[in-house]
Amino acid sequence: MKVAVSFLKTNRPLKEALEMILKSDANFIHIDLMDGTFVPHTSWDIETIKDIFNQDFKPLDVHLMVTDPEKYLEALSHLNTQYVTIHYEIDKDLAALIHKIHDLGMQAGIAINPETPVQSLSAYLSRLDYVLVMGVNPGQGGQKMLVETTKKLRELRQIREEYQYHYCLSFDGGVNKDTRPLLSDADLLVAGSYIAMSDDYQKQIDSLR
Ligand code: DX5
Ligand code: ZN
Repeated sequence: MKVAVSFLKTNRPLKEALEMILKSDANFIHIDLMDGTFVPHTSWDIETIKDIFNQDFKPLDVHLMVTDPEKYLEALSHLNTQYVTIHYEIDKDLAALIHKIHDLGMQAGIAINPETPVQSLSAYLSRLDYVLVMGVNPGQGGQKMLVETTKKLRELRQIREEYQYHYCLSFDGGVNKDTRPLLSDADLLVAGSYIAMSDDYQKQIDSLR
């Protein structure tokens, strides 16, 4: 199981948390960008992200909880970005955005909120490199997982097998050692507070693998 660490909610200064992620064997750093419109709160602006991550970081797994992803794409393409994930629920041309992400040399993902069914993604799955199933309503770390959402992982895994799609199947929200048994159909787990609120990041990561 691959693990990406979200640092949206951490009990130490950002710099220190990032150093701890870098020292661990986490596969990705998960960056949660929030614009205050798609979700109620804001996180970091793109300039801050460029300053912090403009170096030899672990691969970035960028989760855009924003209504207008296009604004961020060019800047992200200059960082060590592997995946850029946009939300299905935004009012934009998703196919065009996937195309733009690919044109900029990055891999494209779509995230679905808890109330969005897997079927909504049918038209896009063949072009996706990444599908992010949200286990909570997006916007903040430390929420309790909505257990029903984990069923989507089995569905998406079956569809991938049936049609020979290639997307990485990822899950975000409420991941911890207690919810881990429900998540074995995923390829990648995004964990925030379970890791970033702890004193031993590697130990928490090991318990999810
Ligand atoms: C939630 C974010 C998550 C969040 C996960 O909207 O997309 O990445 O940081 O945090 P935990 O793991 O604490 O639910
Ligand atoms: Zn996220």
